[in-house]
Amino acid sequence: MNNTGLEHNQREQWASRLGFMLAAMGSAVGLGNIWRFSYVAGESGGGAFLLLYLVCVIFIGIPILMAEFTIGRHAKSDAVGSFQKLAPGRPYVIAGFMGVASAFIILSFYGVIAGWTLKYIVSYLTGQMGAAVASEEGVGAFFGGFISSPVEPIFWQFLFMIITISIVYMGVKKGIEKTNKILMPTLAVLVIILALYSMSLGGASEAFAFLFSPDWSIFTNPLDNTEVYLAALGQAFFSLSLGMGALITYGSYLSKNEKLPGAALGVASLDTTFAILAGLMIFPAVFAFGIDPAEGPGLVFVVLPEIFGSLGFVGTIVGLAFFFLIAAAALSSAVSLLEVAVAYFMRRFNWTRQKTSILIGGIIFLLGIPSSLGLGVMDQFTYIGERDFLDSMDFIASNIFLPLGGLIIALFAGWGWNKTEALKESDFGDTFLGNAWIFVLRYVAPIVIFVIFLQSSGILKILGFEL
Ligand code: TRP
Repeated sequence: MNNTGLEHNQREQWASRLGFMLAAMGSAVGLGNIWRFSYVAGESGGGAFLLLYLVCVIFIGIPILMAEFTIGRHAKSDAVGSFQKLAPGRPYVIAGFMGVASAFIILSFYGVIAGWTLKYIVSYLTGQMGAAVASEEGVGAFFGGFISSPVEPIFWQFLFMIITISIVYMGVKKGIEKTNKILMPTLAVLVIILALYSMSLGGASEAFAFLFSPDWSIFTNPLDNTEVYLAALGQAFFSLSLGMGALITYGSYLSKNEKLPGAALGVASLDTTFAILAGLMIFPAVFAFGIDPAEGPGLVFVVLPEIFGSLGFVGTIVGLAFFFLIAAAALSSAVSLLEVAVAYFMRRFNWTRQKTSILIGGIIFLLGIPSSLGLGVMDQFTYIGERDFLDSMDFIASNIFLPLGGLIIALFAGWGWNKTEALKESDFGDTFLGNAWIFVLRYVAPIVIFVIFLQSSGILKILGFEL
């Protein structure tokens, strides 16, 4: 018998609608909401970034999320196969290939960061973290020492990848659906409590100003702030798991009886709520402890243990629970990333799920080693250095491949597909919302993504446009 409980090559399906929702939410909620959101928001100046990010989620993210679900459920194939099935011989399939490539790139560094969370869990258990918090050099030095060690981060990355591979190996639905059901609410409650505590530390008013009073010059002077636009767009795609066919793949395991618009809205709302709560948890502490919000990828790994440390013994328990939950959230996201590549290679070469997950997961682990090794120099709290390997991987995948993939997906669902069929398959039908959705896919999303690309590559300026 096959381990997946299915015949080889017969497509799997979610056990239930709830299972699908949880898996899609599990994919969306991950390191992107806490680690990536807070450091990108911090580097991009806070409020204006947050506002742009929300605009991107609502007007571009949710419509493309709907498009991915609809394409996947209709085509019943992986990221590449779906386009080949629905639009044979047309160029849209490029989005699928870019998606598989992005899965390799993103998971390569995602596994590294997730590995750091495993290291933190163990450090809480062994008392190493307690010692670091109490020490004079603080958590910044502890973190810096850890990531600049040549072998340790690779070990934790390896461990995380082994766990991810095992889950994909077994077929997604068995463990992960059930675990998510318990872990997600627990994580939410913990984030809310910690946000409240963090706000009591004395940095709340500065944090509110940072997060909620946008610097309007970003809107009056967009050409000088192109990176913030690109960062907001990239973060929206990353956080919603969009633009590389992860949700096409998940949608393909779906039966007809799920209402897609409700599912898309549910996933996007939950994901965004998590990001904002994480901001409310991290930035008050950032200001209370006098840390620079633009500190970079190490932000949560230094700030959070400092908050927990100020809680005494309770803090050890909370820190342990917290990094455990982040690791679990990262796991359900990593599974969805690996699944994109595995689903493609399984079908393409007619390999078993078992063989494919080990092979592809192994390659991705190897690809991640430079990211594991490369995270530059640390000087106490400050993360020094230009864009290093991990940053570059993240930038290429999140700010270029994902929005470009999303652009093609929007063009396909808006133009490449028969409108009546798209409306019917999406469960919107010929309603106002359905037509608004098609309008966004046809015009709004492609134009906005295109203009942001032109802007950030400096082409508009060269052509003499002043927006
Ligand atoms: N959304 C996840 C997070 O926020 C990361 C992720 C999982 C992802 N699957 C994806 C990002 C697919 C882009 C595409 O952590």
